[in-house]
This record gives sequence, C-alpha cells and structure tokens, in this order.
Amino acid sequence: MALVKPISKFGSTTPKLSNPRAPTTKFFTIRMSATTPQPPTTARPPKKAAKQAIKETLLAPRFYTTDFDEMERLFNTQINKNLKQAEFEALLQEFKTDYNQTHFVRSKEFKEAADKLQGPLRQIFVEFLERSCTAEFSGFLLYKELGRRLKKTNPVVAEIFSLMSRDEARHAGFLNKGLSDFNLALDLGFLTKARKYTFFKPKFIFYATYLSEKIGYWRYITIYRHLKANPEYQCYPIFKYFENWCQDENRHGDFFSALMKAQPQFLNDWKAKLWARFFCLSVYVTMYLNDCQRTAFYEGIGLNTKEFDMHVIIETNRTTARIFPAVLDVENPEFKTKLDRMVEINQKLLAVGESLDIPLVKNIKRIPLIAALASELLAAYLMKPIESGSVDYAEFEPQVVY
Ligand SMILES: [Fe+2]
Ligand SMILES: [Fe+2]
Repeated sequence: MALVKPISKFGSTTPKLSNPRAPTTKFFTIRMSATTPQPPTTARPPKKAAKQAIKETLLAPRFYTTDFDEMERLFNTQINKNLKQAEFEALLQEFKTDYNQTHFVRSKEFKEAADKLQGPLRQIFVEFLERSCTAEFSGFLLYKELGRRLKKTNPVVAEIFSLMSRDEARHAGFLNKGLSDFNLALDLGFLTKARKYTFFKPKFIFYATYLSEKIGYWRYITIYRHLKANPEYQCYPIFKYFENWCQDENRHGDFFSALMKAQPQFLNDWKAKLWARFFCLSVYVTMYLNDCQRTAFYEGIGLNTKEFDMHVIIETNRTTARIFPAVLDVENPEFKTKLDRMVEINQKLLAVGESLDIPLVKNIKRIPLIAALASELLAAYLMKPIESGSVDYAEFEPQVVY
C-alpha cells in the first residue's frame, strides 16, 4: 500500500487564491491554522515560529490523503465491472455545464459590511471565514490530486474530480477574498505544505467526503433560508451566495454517492454498516462540539446554535440514509441528550486546558473527562441504528434537493 502525500506536488498547481491586491501596511497574511484567531502581524514570522503557530486540534478542519494506488484499482473499468460509465459520462456533462461560473462576483457591499462588524462579532466572523476557507481548500487539494492520479485509469472520473477541485478552489478563493475585507488573507501555499495530512483508506474517504459534502449543503442552505426570512441578521453579504454555492456541494455529494454505488463492497456487509454509523457519529459530534464553542457566531446571525445543528444533522442523516447501509437514530431525543452531555464535558476539558495548572495536573484532570466523553460516544454509537440505503434501488439523480 503506497501512501502518496500530495503536499509536494502542488507547487505548480496551487491556484492564486489570495487577494490580488498587493499587501499594504493594512493587509496581513495569516499563516496559522484556522482554529485560533490571533492578532495579525505585519512582518512574516521566521519559518520555525510560523510552524509553531499552527495549532492542530481534534476538531480543526482536516486535510486528507489516501492510497492513490488502491483508488486507481477501484476505478479501473477492466477490474471493476460495477462502474457504469454512462452514469459517470452524464455526471461529467453536469459538471462541465458549470452552473456557477459567473456566480461568485463580489460587490462593494462586502467591504462596507465588514467595516460595520466590530467587537467580538468581527473576530468570530474572521474565524468563520478562516475555518470555511481551510475546509474548502482541503477539498480542493484532495480532488485535484485524485483528478491527476486517475487520469490514465478512468479519464471520465478523473475529469469530474478536476472539475470538483475547480469548484472548491472557487469557494476557497471567495472566502479568502472575504478575509481581505478584514485586511487578512490565508496563506494557502503555506497551509498546503505546513498542514498535517490525515491518511484515510479510499473507502473511508468515500464515507467521510460524502458526509462532509452533504452536511455542507445542509449548513449552507439552512443559513441561506434563515437569512432570507430574517434579513435583519444579514450582516455580511457572503450568505446571499449560499443558495447556488450549496448546489455545488450537493452535486459533489451526489458524485460520491455514484462512486459508492460502483463499489458495493463498501456498502453491503456488516462491516460497512458499522463504519457508516461510525462516520455519521464522528461528523455529527465534531460539528456539534465545534459549533457549541462558537455560539456567538450563530447568535450573531440570529440562529439558535443547537437548533440549527440538530436541523442540519437530521436532514443530513435523512439524505445519507438513501445510500449508507445504516445510519444513527438522530431523531430519537436520547441522541440529542447525549450530544448535550458531550458539550458539557468538552467545556470542562477546555476549561482544564485554559487553567493555570502545570501540564501534569492538567493531564490528570483530563483523564476522567476523556473517559466520560468516550463513554458518551460509545453509548451514542450503540444506540439502536436505522437500517437504510440500498445499492440496488438508490437511483442516482443529480437533482436539486431544496
Ligand atoms: Fe465547497
Ligand atoms: Fe464540495
């Protein structure tokens, strides 16, 4: 099994996503991770210091790499007879249509709105833009490399990956331009090289990426609909773009759905059911804990964080049930009770981290909390699941869900 890290290969392919305006004295480059907003600095820090500034946490947006050799085998039409090339051809036409080619055009409203955002909300907006940009950029890197690696084996699938990387580069670039309204920019070239890559076998890439695309779709469309109904909370115009934007994420998710259908061995046995539930749980819990640490952002745009998250989880789970062989019973009230207990434990863990205790004492205090968190996770995982999905019946339709 070869572990191919795409890090060094993007030197010439990384798009110019940063703000085209030359840095001025008011313009700063962020070289840290998106997890901890820090005061910007005017001078570029030395390499060592910059690397130290990158903070990886369990809940931070991740960069993924996979076994590209296995991917090539999975998409080889000579080996895998389940690959329905006509279906992928149809999908390719859909991606080539490029519905959002002219969608991401900014207006002067952006800068004016950013200038009006002051105090804690300004800081939390910057963090939202950084985290979203990092997550979109992570998709760009993975899809770009898959597009490159599958070119010989399956040119149609490869081209779809390349077109999806086009979409993600556009999304990341738009968010990075948003940061320029706050006189900031993420240094994406640096991020590409300095960030740690998480290795997932192909089947785990399918589960994780499908879920992240679909949850991304539901997050964006829910925020869009909420702000359309409550325009008084429309404090920054980026949300007005979410309606068309989320259709990109929906199409990406549908493509992964088609990919999984072409790999029935990842969907039709007891192991697949266990992994499907595991990935659902990881994705839902990560989002819930992350968002509950950032309630100021959601409240700032007039949302109740937990209600928003539960809506997104329930809708994502219903969508996911169309393809995954098993999903969690997230509509059982016990599931939310468990999530809320995890939030409480996580808050205690964060308080330990911020206390003035010496590291040894902190670690001792963390042990019972981590054990409690693990036990809640296990209990949520072992709740009676919902049998779902059908490789045979799940019709692929590149449709608009809303
Ligand atoms: Fe995206
Ligand atoms: Fe996407």
